[in-house]
Parts: sequence; C-alpha cells; structure tokens
Amino acid sequence: MKFPIQHRLMAPADDPVPPGSGLPTGSRPEMGRGMMLQASSSDCGSSGPFRLDGRTALVTGAVGILGRHFCHGLAAAGAAVVVTDLDESECERLAAELRRDHNVPALGLGCDITVPESVDSLVERATRALGDIHILHNNAGGKSSNLDAFYARFEDYSLDEWRRIMAVNIDGTFLVTQAVGRRMVAQGKGGSIIQTASVYGALAPDQRIYEGSEYQGRPISSPAVYAASKAAVIGLTRYLAAYWADAGIRVNCLCPGGVESGQNEEFRRRYGQRVPLGRMAQAGEMVGTLLYLASDASSYVTGQVLMVDGGLSAW
Ligand SMILES: NC(=O)c1ccc[n+]([C@@H]2O[C@H](COP(=O)([O-])OP(=O)(O)OC[C@H]3O[C@@H](n4cnc5c(N)ncnc54)[C@H](O)[C@@H]3O)[C@@H](O)[C@H]2O)c1
Repeated sequence: MKFPIQHRLMAPADDPVPPGSGLPTGSRPEMGRGMMLQASSSDCGSSGPFRLDGRTALVTGAVGILGRHFCHGLAAAGAAVVVTDLDESECERLAAELRRDHNVPALGLGCDITVPESVDSLVERATRALGDIHILHNNAGGKSSNLDAFYARFEDYSLDEWRRIMAVNIDGTFLVTQAVGRRMVAQGKGGSIIQTASVYGALAPDQRIYEGSEYQGRPISSPAVYAASKAAVIGLTRYLAAYWADAGIRVNCLCPGGVESGQNEEFRRRYGQRVPLGRMAQAGEMVGTLLYLASDASSYVTGQVLMVDGGLSAW
C-alpha cells in the first residue's frame, strides 16, 4: 500500500498546472465554472455542452484498465484531473501524461479509499492544489489480488474475502462520495457524481459463459460479492440523487458490461453470443457515457443507471 507521499506543489517538475494552460505555473488556480482553459486536443470539439473547461474532476481507480481511458477523456474535454489510486507514483506518471497530451492541470495522488484518513487527506490535498472539485468519478473497485479467494465458489466463499471486496466497492465509494460531496455542498455550485457499478449489479451473470474461460492463467467467474456490492452502488446512487438534488448535485451510475482485457478466445466467444452487439466492449467505449454524465449535456439527468453493455440488458 503506497500513500500518501507529500506532493511538492511548488516544484516545477511536479507542477499540476502545465505551462501554457492559461494558468500561472506553480500557482493555486481558482477553478470557477466560467473559467476557460485552453485544451490542446479534444475529442469533443472546442465548445458545447460536453466540454468541461474550468472544471476539476477527481477519478478513483484512475490507473486501472478503464481509469486511464476515463482520465484521458476528461482531460481531452478540458477538465483538470485529480488522478488517484493506491500507487502514488503511478498516479503522478498518468497525471504528467495528461498535462503533456491535453495541456490541462492534472495531479497524481495516492489514496486507499477504504481508509477514512487517506480519503480526507486526498480531498484536502486535491482542493489545496486545484481548488473546487466539480466532478467525482468513483471508479475504483473490482478484483482481489488473491484470485483463488476472489473466484472461490459461493459455497466456499470466505467472509474475509467478502468483506475485502465490500470494503473497496461500497465502503470506499461511500467514503469518497461523502468527503467530496460534503465539499461540493459547501462550494455551493452543484456538481456531478458518477458511480461505477456493473451490469452484474442489475443482472445475474449467465454461468454458461464461464465454461472453458481463462484470464490471467486461470478460469474466471463473477462472484456474488461483486454483484451484491455493485447493486449497493446502484442503491446509493438513487438515494443520493434525491438527497442532493436541492444542492444541484447530480448523481448517476455507469454500468459497464464486460470489457476485453486479455480473456481467452473461448470466453470472448461465449460472452459475445450473449450480447446483441455480438462482442465484449473496448475500454475506450465507456468514455463517451462518462463525459455525458459529467457534463452539462446531462444537466436534467440524475439518479439514472446507464448500461454500457452492447445491449446485454435489453433482452
Ligand atoms: N473491466 C470490466 O470488464 C468491468 C465491467 C464492469 C464494471 N467494471 C468496473 O469498472 C471499474 C474499473 O474497472 P477496471 O476494469 O478498470 O478495473 P482495474 O482492476 O483495472 O482498476 C481498478 C483500480 O481500482 C484500484 N483500487 C483497488 N482498491 C483500491 C483502494 N482500496 N483504494 C484506491 N484504489 C483502489 C486498483 O488499484 C485499480 O487501479 C471498477 O469499479 C469495476 O468494477 C469493470
């Protein structure tokens, strides 16, 4: 576990505000809603409701398979990005990439989202460096490093492993949402919170797709704790959408379907047969939905659960 190493704000090499970003290097920017930063490249055009110029987004699980794509997408749309995950040096590396590729402020911070003090420190350091947070993307979650325990059959599942997954997927989501949401309420400018659940928070996995499957050298499945934790994320989303509506904070949930990331051909074939679009997702295909939910393009959308699943939930 690597966190939190003190970020040296004033050292030019670590400066989260890149030269040419329209903000003074080494300064603490005031990220007001109307403030325009120059983004050097963008997949979303230079104006319009999908742009995020002048907003700061905090992304958890930022250096994982999907997180990297999400961070690049937000930065390309003009947002300053707080890149956070367990390993601070990995976060710093990705933040440097975002500054270089998109010319936006970006900051890499280590945080274990299951530890309240670590989450408080994350929010404190992020706001000290980049000002208000307008967008929170709770993306951390997923697998355990002990794959035998994680993929164990339900009859044999250990309470320790159940709690470990719950601690990240739901306790961690609770802690970060509470800390950033509290901040958003105090800022008085509203905000957008995007939770990441899964199709399996709403649907049962078809157990037949796992026959002959292989991933990271072993058969795979999707354990019950994953489904239960992601269903809880969906419940939290709907609750908070209603709870924070009067503060102008929208809360929505992105539910990815299975993303191709090295599964064997047999699994990809079986999964593809279950999906109307006939294939697994590519990681980058989640980004458009995130930008929609993060931006004013979805200004009248809250409490929604968006399936990005190739149609799996449609039949
Ligand atoms: N990849 C898929 O097929 C898929 C499908 C549906 C949903 N999802 C969800 O999308 C999100 C991202 O998935 P991914 O495929 O990129 O997973 P990933 O495992 O590649 O990334 C998850 C990241 O979360 C981080 N993380 C884990 N525990 C943490 C903690 N205690 N504190 C801080 N960070 C922690 C990890 O270090 C990792 O970088 C997850 O919530 C996952 O459940 C993924």
